[in-house]
Amino acid sequence: MNLRFALRLFTSSLGKKTVMALSGLALTFFMLVHLAENLLLLKGEAAYNGWVDFLLSNPLIPLAELGLLAVFLAHIITGLWVRYENYKAAGFSKYEESKSQGGRTIGSATMIYTAFALLAYLIYHMMHFRFADHSIGFYQMVTEAFRNKVFVAIYVAGALALALHVSHGFQSAFQTLGLNHDKYFSFIKTAGYITALFMTLFAMLSLYFLLGLDAKFSSPYQQKVLETVIN
Ligand code: HEM
Repeated sequence: MNLRFALRLFTSSLGKKTVMALSGLALTFFMLVHLAENLLLLKGEAAYNGWVDFLLSNPLIPLAELGLLAVFLAHIITGLWVRYENYKAAGFSKYEESKSQGGRTIGSATMIYTAFALLAYLIYHMMHFRFADHSIGFYQMVTEAFRNKVFVAIYVAGALALALHVSHGFQSAFQTLGLNHDKYFSFIKTAGYITALFMTLFAMLSLYFLLGLDAKFSSPYQQKVLETVIN
C-alpha cells in the first residue's frame, strides 16, 4: 500500500468513520482502566500512591502517553471532520435523525455538545492533575481537590457528559464497524449503557470525598461496624 493510497483511504468517508470508531472504543477502554485505577482512592493513600508510583516507574509510560494523545487527537479530528461533512451535505438536524440505528436518544442528540464539554473538562483535568505539583503525593492532591465544591461540580458535569457521550458512542462505533446485526445489536446497546453507567462512578468518587465519606468509613466506629459485618 503506497502512501497516497493510504492517505486516500484515511480521508475517505468510511476511513474517517472507522478511525473515529476504533479510537472511540480505545478511549472507552482507557476510561475503564482509568476508573479502576481511581477506585483505588477508596482503599486509601497507600494503595493509590503505591499504584501511581508503580505505574510511573515504568520507563514505557511516556511512550504510552504519546500513544494516548495520538488516539485522542485522531478521535477529535475525525469526529469534527465527519460532523462538518455531514453538516455540509445534509444539514444539522437531518444528520442527527438519520444517524442512529438505536433511534434518537438524548445521547445521540447531544453528541457534539458532550464532545466539546469533554474537551474542556479534559483540559481542566490535565491542568489540575497531570501538569500539577505532585510533591504532596497523588492521593493528597486528588482528595484535597475533591473537598472543593466548585471543583467537584465540574467533575460531576464532566462525568455525566462522558456517560452521555459513551451511551451513544459505544453502539455507534459498532454500527460503523458493521457489527450491528439484529441478533446481537441489543446486546451491544446494553453493553454501551452499562459502560456509560460505569462512567458515572467518576462523579461518585469526587462526591464521596466532598461528602467526607472517606473520614466516616475510616473512623474507628465504622471500622468496627465493617469488621462485624465481614466476620
Ligand atoms: C474521579 C475522577 C478522576 C480522577 C481522580 C483522575 C485522576 C487522574 C490523575 C491523578 C492523573 C495524572 C496521572 C499522572 O500524572 O501520570 C490523571 C490523568 C489523566 N486523566 Fe484522569 N482522573 C479522573 C477522571 C478522568 C476522566 C473522566 C477522564 C476523561 C474524560 C480522564 C482522563 C485522563 C487522561 C487522558 C489523563 C492523562 C493520562 C496520562 O498522562 O497518563 N480522567 N487522572
